[in-house]
Amino acid sequence: MQLQFTEEQLAVRDAAREFAQTELLPGVIERDTNQIFPAEQVKKMGELGFLGMMVDPKYNGGGMDTVSYVLAMEEISKVDASASVIMSVNNSLVCWGLEKYGTEEQKEKYLKPLASGEVIGAFCLSEPEAGSDATSQRTTAEDKGDYYLLNGTKNWITNGGNASVYLVMAQTNPELGHKGINCLIVEKGMEGFTVGKKEDKLGIRGSDTHSLMFQDVKVPKENRIGEDGFGFKFAMSTLDGGRIGIAAQALGIASGAYELSIQYAKERKAFGKEIAKHQAIQFKIADMATTINAARWMCMEAAYQKDQGQNYARAAAMAKLYASQVAMDVTIEAVQVHGGYGYVKEYHVERLMRDAKITQIYEGTSEIQKIVIARDVLK
Ligand code: CAA
Ligand code: FAD
Repeated sequence: MQLQFTEEQLAVRDAAREFAQTELLPGVIERDTNQIFPAEQVKKMGELGFLGMMVDPKYNGGGMDTVSYVLAMEEISKVDASASVIMSVNNSLVCWGLEKYGTEEQKEKYLKPLASGEVIGAFCLSEPEAGSDATSQRTTAEDKGDYYLLNGTKNWITNGGNASVYLVMAQTNPELGHKGINCLIVEKGMEGFTVGKKEDKLGIRGSDTHSLMFQDVKVPKENRIGEDGFGFKFAMSTLDGGRIGIAAQALGIASGAYELSIQYAKERKAFGKEIAKHQAIQFKIADMATTINAARWMCMEAAYQKDQGQNYARAAAMAKLYASQVAMDVTIEAVQVHGGYGYVKEYHVERLMRDAKITQIYEGTSEIQKIVIARDVLK
């Protein structure tokens, strides 16, 4: 048994690799240092079809499978994890959720420009006091007949400043607990909606992360996704696929650091020979190769299950849990392989190490993935 990809899947991988090398690599250090959003590059990603990869072509998408998406995410993440989180949120949290659960009108109005990359979207679940404990939504969406009155604050929203379309979870019927939560499509520019401060982050510094404030924002009823009270299940179901994207991001960060380490170990000499000839370095490379291989299989298993219409929640959580740990382990060792050079920006691995950490936090922390896995195993 081996991972065998179709010609189409390999073509997607090669196109993503080419794009990452020619468009993302130049300037990646400067964007990281100065927290510059890769606006030009994101526009090109849209033109190349990387922002709506799995969406049906009738809604301007690429009609590709999840395996292709994982291959592309890995290649982009090897070089620029800021660009890949922008891509991941748009593809798997925003476009996927809209295509799966949106009305025909919502797809025409919102999905089409999102899938083509004309605009980008954001997924807004987390709040200052509701992160892992996502059912404790404090943001409210009061039912006013033909519209909802939205009030509250969202935290940590990726694409927060650059998005045009926001999927916002909010509580309509607190007495119903999670069954009272709705997901509303909010447009930038709606009266009462303001974008708050941009976070100054450890990693993925080219992506923008903002708080969002809603004060008496009138959101038309037709902007609700699914039935009344479907918002929490919408968020959970969407995150199952999102976690495959973040697992692939973690895999890419690890593979990027691994490839740089091999190259460096073959060039750098110490004690009269290449450091690759010292067994201590060989063992690090062997551990990297082994764990990255396992992470890749797990990402592909989750993607394959999704493409086959199977239940992929457990496999997605496992892939994210494992690949994010591999990303941390591999990038820390990659800095070590590079010695002092690994500690400076020019060699890229210090950035990859900083970027790796977020994959253990967002779209459900590693502890939350273990809860998801254990509940599924023990049910
Ligand atoms: N699909 C569909 N429904 C699901 C589901 C899934 N995968 N998982 C749970 N549900 C349903 C349950 O069936 C339940 O419904 P019923 O009562 O009708 O059976 C309901 O949701 C509530 O589930 P739980 O009782 O399991 O809820 P809980 O309070 O114990 O929490 C949790 C479960 C898994 C911990 C969940 O709160 C969670 O995933 N937390 C993490 C939040 C998260 O991942 N946030 C990410 C934000 S987005 C982001 O981070 C993007 C980015 O960075 C780029
Ligand atoms: P908490 O939930 O307060 O957790 C703190 C610690 O306690 C963690 O280690 C956690 O694992 C642990 N913990 C909590 N509950 C349990 C438990 N039951 N058992 C064991 N351990 C537990 N959110 C969005 O909605 N949209 C976005 O686009 C988005 N982008 C993000 C981008 C960045 C850069 C960051 C940092 C976050 C982003 N998030 C986004 C939010 C992210 O999903 C949350 O930070 C994450 O879910 C954790 O929530 P929290 O920060 O409130 O931590």
